[in-house]
Amino acid sequence: MTDEVRPVLQARGITKFFPGAIALADVDLSLRPGEVHALLGENGAGKSTLIKCLTGAYARDGGTLELDGAEVSPGSTEESQRLGIGTVYQEVNLLPNLTVAENLFLGRQPLRWGLVSRRRMAAEAAGVLAGYGLHIDVREPLSHYPVAVQQVIAIARAVEMSGRVLILDEPTASLDRDEVELVFSVIRKLKERGLASVFITHFLDQVFAICDRATVLRNGRVVGTRELAGSAPRDIVHLMLGRQLESEVHERHGGQGGTLLAEIDGLGRRGMIEPVSMQIREGEVIGLAGLLGAGRTETASLLFGAVQADPAPGAAPGCASARSHGRRGDSRRGSG
Ligand SMILES: Nc1ncnc2c1ncn2[C@@H]1O[C@H](COP(=O)(O)OP(=O)(O)OP(=O)(O)O)[C@@H](O)[C@H]1O
Ligand SMILES: [Mg+2]
Repeated sequence: MTDEVRPVLQARGITKFFPGAIALADVDLSLRPGEVHALLGENGAGKSTLIKCLTGAYARDGGTLELDGAEVSPGSTEESQRLGIGTVYQEVNLLPNLTVAENLFLGRQPLRWGLVSRRRMAAEAAGVLAGYGLHIDVREPLSHYPVAVQQVIAIARAVEMSGRVLILDEPTASLDRDEVELVFSVIRKLKERGLASVFITHFLDQVFAICDRATVLRNGRVVGTRELAGSAPRDIVHLMLGRQLESEVHERHGGQGGTLLAEIDGLGRRGMIEPVSMQIREGEVIGLAGLLGAGRTETASLLFGAVQADPAPGAAPGCASARSHGRRGDSRRGSG
């Protein structure tokens, strides 16, 4: 209401019951033109349920929806797409055996594309994808391309069919860093065109890389909407969890005295994870805990050697900063 520009999408008081549970209670969400709006919350907070209520996949039990100031009430995902709301999910929702061009135009090929004009369809598909920075052979089957490229094609299809709002429900969950960058480059182009997007992810670094604002859900309720430019990741985590997240090292039974098996000192990789230090003693089980995206898998990959760590500061190039031990030492542990 206080937004100076009219929101592209305005949801008010969205409520959804499941048998025995309130999945969403009085949820408001507002999207400005050209913004990427993160929808955050712990597992089960209600993010996907809200998306399904916005796209007509679920019938809502309360609340209203406005698109460009006009009340809408899509009864199906097809209807919401026609109205202007397109959705892309973690699993690419296209047909792998059809060509890229066929996937782009599936279900909306004008008649002139019947048997005669496959060449024309290919040319139009290539033109559309070029607008997203993707220069590929659109006559190849979709399955010939990496998942990230398929995801960009899914985004292009959703935007071409809807064009006002793009909803992205964990589209980057199975992508690696470079692939995420490809998807982000497309989201940035759409932002420039004024499209409003909702971006659901568990990766906070991605939220800060691409989003303008974030709305946080907890137990089906909105606990806050924040401009990300003025927020710190820990404030957002605090909102998500409802309590301050301390960096803690818990020691249940003394590692003191056990033989030191390995000492990890400043093991890290630029652009991937900050340096981690810890000591591992005989007979110990050390838990690595953190939210998704906190760096648990990356730490394990570095420890195992599956990913090459940066050389320790001051060390000779290629010098490993994790080493095995037989000597005794103190048992303080740190976590990254
Ligand atoms: N079809 C359903 N029937 C009953 N309860 C459901 C159904 N779908 C979701 N729920 C419940 O509603 C709540 C919200 O679930 P939702 O899937 O929206 O969470 P989410 O924020 O998307 O979580 P995640 O991060 O794990 O994807 C959860 O308590 C979930 O168990
Ligand atoms: Mg979900």
